[in-house]
Amino acid sequence: MASPRPAVLVARQAPAAVLARLHAEFDVDLNEPDVVLPRPELLQRLQGKLACMITGSERIDAELLDACPELRFVSTVSVGFNHIDVPACTARGVVVTNTPDVLTESTADFGFALMMAAARRMSEGERMLRDGRWQRWSWDLLAGADVHGATLGILGMGRIGQAIARRGHHGFGMPVIYHNRSRLDAATEAAVGARYVSQDELFAEADHLILVLPYSPAVHHLVGAQQLALMKPTATLTNVARGGIVDENALVAALRAGRPGAAALDVFEGEPQVNPALLTLPNTVLTPHIASATIKTRTAMAALAVDNLLALVSGRPPLTALNP
Ligand code: DGY
Repeated sequence: MASPRPAVLVARQAPAAVLARLHAEFDVDLNEPDVVLPRPELLQRLQGKLACMITGSERIDAELLDACPELRFVSTVSVGFNHIDVPACTARGVVVTNTPDVLTESTADFGFALMMAAARRMSEGERMLRDGRWQRWSWDLLAGADVHGATLGILGMGRIGQAIARRGHHGFGMPVIYHNRSRLDAATEAAVGARYVSQDELFAEADHLILVLPYSPAVHHLVGAQQLALMKPTATLTNVARGGIVDENALVAALRAGRPGAAALDVFEGEPQVNPALLTLPNTVLTPHIASATIKTRTAMAALAVDNLLALVSGRPPLTALNP
């Protein structure tokens, strides 16, 4: 008799062609409605599953692992993994994989676009036009800050940070400054045209500052009143990392005080809920966590998550494991 196929929970929808490859090897329990499973249902649906394919919306922690002892593989369709307790997984022999690289360029595109939208007041302009408040051309109507030639600041100089630096340096003639846990080697700095500075210098000198560092409790509210007060009144702050890095109440107060001049946020502390004050401020550009959302990139992310599961189930090493 053939041995039973391994079971996998696919917690959120993914492209059908990608999932078809999973169906070939696994018994797939797909959460068809594509809503975030409430925690009790997630625990219940994980019973007897060898693997799960999740997104940033499902939390994998010690409690869940202990309640689902048959779970051996966790494949997240995201590069960020702050929703997974990797040490707890490792301690229980659970392999965790994520989807780096395939989203780097799309996320960098979006970060750059958000920064430009904030600098050039695009959302304000669109809201004015749609609301019927545009009355005439005038020389200073929604006049913003230049992007070309301005100083681009990057906090977190991993793959996405470097891709943003390349855009600024090569495409827009921007001097690039950055701060990171560890400094890049000289050749990489030269290739992306970036200069290492202290964190305070970064906040004080950047005309446009982009956050692309990974979230961990160590960087919770790293961007608070003190750092924001260092920024120029004409500067913009863009966040395509994780909402928890920014103290949103401090940001609201800072934006009201006009320092920085504008913020562009794709991620929020309590998403999908958004701090109502941010919604009322004219100098914000707000998007619903879509920095990696192109069809091509999201398909590539799902494909890599599936490739990892197929490798694991056939005894091959995973392509992008997070366990040490
Ligand atoms: C990621 O890949 O981490 C993005 O934020 C999507 O969750």
